[in-house]
Amino acid sequence: MRQRIVVGNWKMNPPSVAEATALATVLALRADVRGVLVGVAPPAVALGAVAKVLAGSGIDVYAQDVHWEESGAFTGQTSASMLVGLAHGAIVGHSEVRRDQGDDDERVSRKLERAVDAGLRPILCVGETEDHYLAGETHGVLVRQIRACVARLDPAALAELVVAYEPIWAIGTGRPATGAEAGRAAGTIREALARVGIDADRVPIQYGGSVTSANVGDFAAADGIDGALVGGSSLRAEDFAEIVSAFA
Ligand code: PGA
Repeated sequence: MRQRIVVGNWKMNPPSVAEATALATVLALRADVRGVLVGVAPPAVALGAVAKVLAGSGIDVYAQDVHWEESGAFTGQTSASMLVGLAHGAIVGHSEVRRDQGDDDERVSRKLERAVDAGLRPILCVGETEDHYLAGETHGVLVRQIRACVARLDPAALAELVVAYEPIWAIGTGRPATGAEAGRAAGTIREALARVGIDADRVPIQYGGSVTSANVGDFAAADGIDGALVGGSSLRAEDFAEIVSAFA
């Protein structure tokens, strides 16, 4: 039986550390769902405060990104080792980071390696653009991304890997994929993982992209989908709690 895991990606929200702390406080009071691993990924500046509030709550804290180098002249960036003690894991390869920082699969692969080396549980995001989706190229894109991001790593080091299938056209648009599409993508991702020697049946796969408490049932019921990476809806404690419960 695979782990089920729901993580809230807060992105550059809420607008202050005080509000991030307040949101974490509300979530901590509701953290009583059995059978689902729950995490939140606050902005880097709020990691310490949120981690303090969530200590002992059962909700894990994730970083939204790590740098691909260990240290050095990289103004504004955070290395994986700096997150040790603050975060349980880290998201890598999110399409917004790829878009805004020019990350390609090679860089994402190095970030994944840094996260793993630092003992952080990695959530690797993959997903196709709208053009690729409309052209029917989702399968090929996912296979290429998985191979490029994962192949250079030792499969044994990836025992804790989580993959998030996030079609770029579904993120923040209110137009989610269907459960069937997410399930097909999960199948593709597992095949690609298995081909590079990873025990793919054990890797939890999340769906991400406009997940709400209203549509989560479709994804919770989808074949091979074990959780969600939730953006907008994770900022509303009530909605997030319902999304978590859907995977219980
Ligand atoms: P969304 O974001 O739920 O707001 O679409 C998901 C994500 O980017 O992880």
